[in-house]
Amino acid sequence: ISRRSFPDGFVFGTASSAYQYEGAVKEDGRGQTIWDTFAHTFGKVLDFSNADVANNQYHLYSGDIQLMKDMGMDAYRFSIAWSRIYPNGTGKINQAGVDHYNNFINALLANGIEPYVTLYHWDLPQSLEDKYAGWLDPQSIKDFTLYAETCFREFGDRVKHWITFNEPHTFAVQGYDVGLQAPSRCSIILHAFCRAGNSATEPYIVAHNVLLSHASVVAVYKQKYQPHQRGSIGISLDSFWYEPTSNSSADIEATQRSLDFNLGWFIEPLIFGDYPRSMRTRVGSRLPRFTKSESKQLKGSFDFIGINHYTTWYASVNNTNIIGVLLNDSLADSGASSLPFKNGKPIADRANSIWLYIVPHGIRSLMNYIKQKYDNPLIIITENGMDDANNPFTSIKDALKDEKRIKYHNDYLTNLLAAIKEDGCNVRGYFVWSLLDNWEWGAGFSARFGLFYVDYNDNLKRYAKDSVKWFKNFLTS
Ligand code: GCO
Repeated sequence: ISRRSFPDGFVFGTASSAYQYEGAVKEDGRGQTIWDTFAHTFGKVLDFSNADVANNQYHLYSGDIQLMKDMGMDAYRFSIAWSRIYPNGTGKINQAGVDHYNNFINALLANGIEPYVTLYHWDLPQSLEDKYAGWLDPQSIKDFTLYAETCFREFGDRVKHWITFNEPHTFAVQGYDVGLQAPSRCSIILHAFCRAGNSATEPYIVAHNVLLSHASVVAVYKQKYQPHQRGSIGISLDSFWYEPTSNSSADIEATQRSLDFNLGWFIEPLIFGDYPRSMRTRVGSRLPRFTKSESKQLKGSFDFIGINHYTTWYASVNNTNIIGVLLNDSLADSGASSLPFKNGKPIADRANSIWLYIVPHGIRSLMNYIKQKYDNPLIIITENGMDDANNPFTSIKDALKDEKRIKYHNDYLTNLLAAIKEDGCNVRGYFVWSLLDNWEWGAGFSARFGLFYVDYNDNLKRYAKDSVKWFKNFLTS
């Protein structure tokens, strides 16, 4: 396959995020974020690293843009760090931060790379966490809207694709239930107790405020900016695909609930204006409700829906196993457990990350599910990719041989193409996670997701892995 098999106008790009890439955390007036705090708390990150320097794209972006251009990429998805624009989350604008993103956006456009900008990729200004516990407080809706509006005003003459939030499901669960991500409420040990008490409330409150923030920002964009800036706006939702562990009706129903508590939680408010029925009944009074006008504002609040998709797991009704408690990020409330194994056998070959099994047909199934259940909305795959281990004993030369990644993209793209061409799914773009090796949150530098290898021991030099040649050929031949 090659890009010519895809419909005209289909966009290919790579994706990144500010905290995972930029570094320069103390420069040009950037304020501290909840991820700085998390990473600097002893024992939170697997390899005890932080992203103070990351892969230093803050300074090295000109070279990185050349790498994208040489490969034939059309677009680049990156996030703006809220705390570079408003170091304290609100208040006075930091002009140096605005200047940085202006230069960056201009450099992309000068090289023919279309910017896709995420407004929030998890790096909440620490001040807002300190002031009112961040997303737990509805004041976050007002502050996020102000920040987003500043971005539209400053950058919207050139940025035509906006993504309000990246993976709210992930940070609501990992940050407020499992505790493995910032702001790390409910530790992994406490987690067992939270579940036993079936008492999770915070993830639902956070998700609710995030959804209302999304709707508020989209409303502002549509009323005040879109008419003259003529861009589009959406959100990036993460979703696994799930397959029932057995064909018992209990497991099939549990599989549906796994999807409801992962994707449905966020997509149904956007499509139907309310949470999935299974969530309303199971979570009960702990699930906040939308007023009529909120529901109306949410419904249809997107031009496209971004989907970050990597893997497929099994789902079943059995809800008690220790691996599930540790690895499974869907809440106990779903009454479903999902695992990448069945009878001790993995669902497929695995990448480096313990959750990332390589199941190419899953993307086709997920696209068809969305098409059927949600009336075929416009979808952009805003992340898809796999990681290699960061093995200190592997030479750089060997680390560049990433046949597995080539196969991963070839096979996922083949399935995506079938979803578009044979099944009629409305998908318009595909972004690889990720352009460069980068700082993988709680896994630190232990995972290498890049098409380009980054030498953390020698000035963060970038080296093309074999997958770069594959993409270049795919895109330009
Ligand atoms: C996201 C993702 C990325 C990860 C990638 C690999 O939320 O967009 O978490 O930031 O690096 O998904 O795990």
